[in-house]
Amino acid sequence: MTDFAALAEDIAREAGEMLLAKRPTMSSAVETKSSPTDVVTALDKASEELIRARVLAARPDDTILGEEGGDIPGSSGVRWVVDPIDGTVNFLYGLPDWAVSIAVEVDGVAVAGVVNVVPRGEMFTATLGGGAWLAGDRLTCNRDVPLDRSLVATGFGYAPGRRAVQGEVVAAVLPLVRDIRRSGSCAVDLCSVAAGRVDAYYERGVNHWDHAAAGLIAAEAGARIGGLHGRPVSDSFALCAGPGLFAELHDVLAALDPERDA
Ligand code: IPD
Ligand code: CA
Ligand code: CA
Repeated sequence: MTDFAALAEDIAREAGEMLLAKRPTMSSAVETKSSPTDVVTALDKASEELIRARVLAARPDDTILGEEGGDIPGSSGVRWVVDPIDGTVNFLYGLPDWAVSIAVEVDGVAVAGVVNVVPRGEMFTATLGGGAWLAGDRLTCNRDVPLDRSLVATGFGYAPGRRAVQGEVVAAVLPLVRDIRRSGSCAVDLCSVAAGRVDAYYERGVNHWDHAAAGLIAAEAGARIGGLHGRPVSDSFALCAGPGLFAELHDVLAALDPERDA
């Protein structure tokens, strides 16, 4: 049987090496997607291409869901969920929080997740029931942090309307918490919850490939990840925190962000 975590890790490492070797300058070819601020570089596409080729060489019947390539359907019940660069804007500017993110799902359940934070040389990994790991250390999230002592990561989408609402929400959260962080990568934020580098993360409107791998890593580190009102994490809302804080932050966010469309 395939060791999914080992295969995902090998592929994420190879993609990371390629990206480091070919890292662009600001002048290299950049296109935009959903809005003028939503950029994609040629290397986002090259990274996904490399990952797709490696996965299909090893597992030709698997499905691949990738941010840049859409859905490649397979028949095995195994799906690879790929964000070839999470944190593309950081990548473009030479900031260190960007990652190659690969999750493996069997019949819709994440069984392995790998987040290679390439500039930091950090490979976060998790398997379902097997814990979350970084450099040989098992990760444990922070527990029972009171809201007013919590360091909370968040992110903003690319659409101006959504950003305006997210700005209102974060302005209301800021006085209630220790501080806010915005790394620019959902996958890095979730790994930071897993490693106890922040206490919580929330964001409206992230995509499945943003959180598929890192969500498993955070959960295996003991964090709770979900949506609002008892729903599972989804493209609508992602909230992740250790036990205790999850409920407190949930109630604040549910009151501030009552399922607004933006
Ligand atoms: C983005 C990052 C960012 C988050 C955005 C995502 P991308 O992914 O994860 O932190 O705030 O919502 O779209 O575009 O860099 O792959
Ligand atoms: Ca992403
Ligand atoms: Ca991306």
